[in-house]
Amino acid sequence: MPGFLPWPGQLLAVAVLVLRPAGSLGVQCPVPSITHGQLKPTQNFTYGSTATLECDAGYIPVGAITTVRCLGSGRWHPRVPACTLGHCPYPPAIDHADRNPQREFPVGTTVTYVCRSGYALLPDISPITTCLKNFTWSSVPKLCQICAPPPKIANGQHSGLRTEQFSYGLEIKYSCAEGLSLIGDDSIYCTSDDGVNLAWSGPAPECKVVRCPKPTVERGRMTPQMFTFPYGAAVRFSCDEGFVLRGDAESRCLADGAWHPALPTCQPVLCPQPQVANGRLKSTLDGEMWYQANATVTFECLDGYHFLDDGSMSPEDSRTATCLPDGNWTPLPECKKEDAANVCEEVHYIQAAFECDVPMAEVKTLLEIQKLFLEIKKLKAELENLNVQVL
Ligand SMILES: *[C@@H]1O[C@H](CO)[C@@H](O)[C@H](O)[C@H]1NC(C)=O
Ligand SMILES: *[C@@H]1O[C@H](CO)[C@@H](O)[C@H](O)[C@H]1NC(C)=O
Ligand SMILES: *[C@@H]1O[C@H](CO)[C@@H](O)[C@H](O)[C@H]1NC(C)=O
Repeated sequence: MPGFLPWPGQLLAVAVLVLRPAGSLGVQCPVPSITHGQLKPTQNFTYGSTATLECDAGYIPVGAITTVRCLGSGRWHPRVPACTLGHCPYPPAIDHADRNPQREFPVGTTVTYVCRSGYALLPDISPITTCLKNFTWSSVPKLCQICAPPPKIANGQHSGLRTEQFSYGLEIKYSCAEGLSLIGDDSIYCTSDDGVNLAWSGPAPECKVVRCPKPTVERGRMTPQMFTFPYGAAVRFSCDEGFVLRGDAESRCLADGAWHPALPTCQPVLCPQPQVANGRLKSTLDGEMWYQANATVTFECLDGYHFLDDGSMSPEDSRTATCLPDGNWTPLPECKKEDAANVCEEVHYIQAAFECDVPMAEVKTLLEIQKLFLEIKKLKAELENLNVQVL
């Protein structure tokens, strides 16, 4: 019986052994049935042995005594205590919040925090805390918060002047004194970047005098017609005929008092260097790659080619083309290979005459007549030219 010698001295121990009821050497105390707990050690409860009550998680022994001893009578002394549900302390207080009003908090109890008017818990944070089996509270929500008063601005005001508490999600609108331009976002709202603290979504806007200079684009027009150009004003540009817009057609007056994007320019429409198959530009000065509207170029055909007769009475062996304001040329001339057809026709005619058995003398006469006829025609043409010059 180790551990059980309550009185000092071997003699006294012997006396106790003698006084002990008969048969107590074989006594065993029963394993007690304990809800939500058990004795440690769990067996071999012989006379004089001690055991300690251990409760399940979340439970505590009723009373202060937890160790019991097995008596010779086969009973535990004192009586084995029961296990009862444990409690959490009062849940922590949160600024600007109320809790449900109960006073007891046994394990498993939940407590819901409610922010007072104007305050808000951050989103994604549960307002509920639970009493855990180790008698502590599960995560307690972050503070019920508000934003600091929104920043004041020079020459302007905001919509929150009469608001006392700036709760999560509240939007504040800014406006400027008359004639001033609001630079930046016209509203901010109470939010949280880090999920812990509340702050305004951005800086407050500014109120400034912003005027852009009148935009001038040479050879261009502007819509709409305006006389002052305040912040944010937008204008569109177009060019006079024969000119093309380089840059952005629309520009806006921004906070720095300048036009963005930069104003466009109107550049003259240009025609590309014209190309004529089997022909070339007559003047070497006409070697430019681009030509302005109204520019005129002169072509000639390469050797062995001539202009396709278009019925015009131009006696020259050159033709012109002009660059139009839309970037195209007037119709370009065409160079065709010298046609041998006329000569061939003559040969055929003469050959036919021979084949018809016309005597040589007659053929000769016919050709003479034809020659005279052509000479008369030529003289007439020269006479006409002379008349034209006189006129
Ligand atoms: C019970 O305890 C006795 C004395 O301490 C020991 O000799 C015995 O082995 C134990 N029996 C069991 C089953 O633990
Ligand atoms: C209580 O239990 C919870 C969850 O099991 C644990 O996170 C927490 O650290 C425990 N607290 C203490 C003081 O042991
Ligand atoms: C081309 O000529 C027309 C008519 O003479 C004139 O109105 C126009 O301004 C000229 N264009 C250019 C680019 O010189």
